[in-house]
Amino acid sequence: MCTETHTQLDQAKLEALAGKVLGDTAGALGVLLSYIGDQTGVYRALEEAGPCTAGQLADKCGLSERYLLEWLSATTSLGYVTYDSEGESFSLSPEQAAVFAREGDPTCMQGGFQSIVGEFAQYEKAVDVFRSGEGRPWGDHHSCLFCGTDRFFKPGYNANLLEHWIPALEGVDATLQAGGKVADVGCGYGSSTILMAKHYSNSMIHGFDFHEPSIVAARENAEKEGVSNVEFFVSDAASMPDDGYDLACIFDALHDMGDPVGAASSICRALKPDGSFMVVEPMAGDSLKENQHVLASLFYGFSTLVCVPTSKSQNVGLALGAQAGQKRLTEVLNQAGFSYVRRVTETPTNMVLEARI
Ligand SMILES: C[S@@+](CC[C@H](N)C(=O)[O-])C[C@H]1O[C@@H](n2cnc3c(N)ncnc32)[C@H](O)[C@@H]1O
Repeated sequence: MCTETHTQLDQAKLEALAGKVLGDTAGALGVLLSYIGDQTGVYRALEEAGPCTAGQLADKCGLSERYLLEWLSATTSLGYVTYDSEGESFSLSPEQAAVFAREGDPTCMQGGFQSIVGEFAQYEKAVDVFRSGEGRPWGDHHSCLFCGTDRFFKPGYNANLLEHWIPALEGVDATLQAGGKVADVGCGYGSSTILMAKHYSNSMIHGFDFHEPSIVAARENAEKEGVSNVEFFVSDAASMPDDGYDLACIFDALHDMGDPVGAASSICRALKPDGSFMVVEPMAGDSLKENQHVLASLFYGFSTLVCVPTSKSQNVGLALGAQAGQKRLTEVLNQAGFSYVRRVTETPTNMVLEARI
């Protein structure tokens, strides 16, 4: 009887699920194909050129026409490129250009693709830690993850940090305009740090990250941008200097930390008594039941491969995960000594919490 129940398939449900998974599987190839198009400049060239044949595009990009035709056929059938059968030409609609070609646009997905490709490139390590239950340090991942993370998050910071997030914190914008001190903890490649330094030229902005190659990249980026009121330090979040900061921030990194309570306690000590702690975390409800949508599946996916292993590789290894939710994050911040925590603003992808002592 039990066997019978198991073998009774609802044909309509099966077809719906199989169809979805088929689409997801094609999409998995689409991620790699899109990354190839990004790295070889095809999307950018296609946007620049407008409608063109595979041969014309191959000449423009210096690529093999046969490979390019196959790539264009695959990406056309995925809906990533537009095909005109009469002129046998390919082009990007403005929407396709926004998602695939325009670096720096908040809609551009190439940073996300790059991060995913980096995870596939080292899938054996992912299988190993999943089997053993051990942690995997941030620095143990393929370099595509570090670069891809920066590309993926930076446009969101450009669009929101100065215009919406900091102004949502009481009095902080005015303090930083006049000249204050900011700590950006877990700063990665320093995009958020440099953005604040450029805007608040009277303030000093410090970026901290325990991953040395990221700090090297952040220093190079600051030099390229010609900003002098920024300094980067290789440091664990739990060892912040007690420097009297007006604002401390953590962008998409608190849940990656092994000891988020310890990190937040260290920030609590490093802030001025009236200082503000801004915590930007992935948007999430407080339970798995609430987190049943495509964005959550992306966050949970990265969390399984990156965030949970990163946290588990560190002291304490709390492993909050990338969908911790405001309630759990508030508990962490309360435990660290912040008695006042509120959500000051949000975007479809991020929640912005302010914690005060
Ligand atoms: C998802 S990345 C976000 C980086 C950057 N804030 C951004 O938004 O682009 C997480 C960062 O947290 C850093 N990190 C994780 N645990 C840390 C710790 N205990 N102390 C300092 N940095 C840490 C990692 O090295 C990594 O750069």
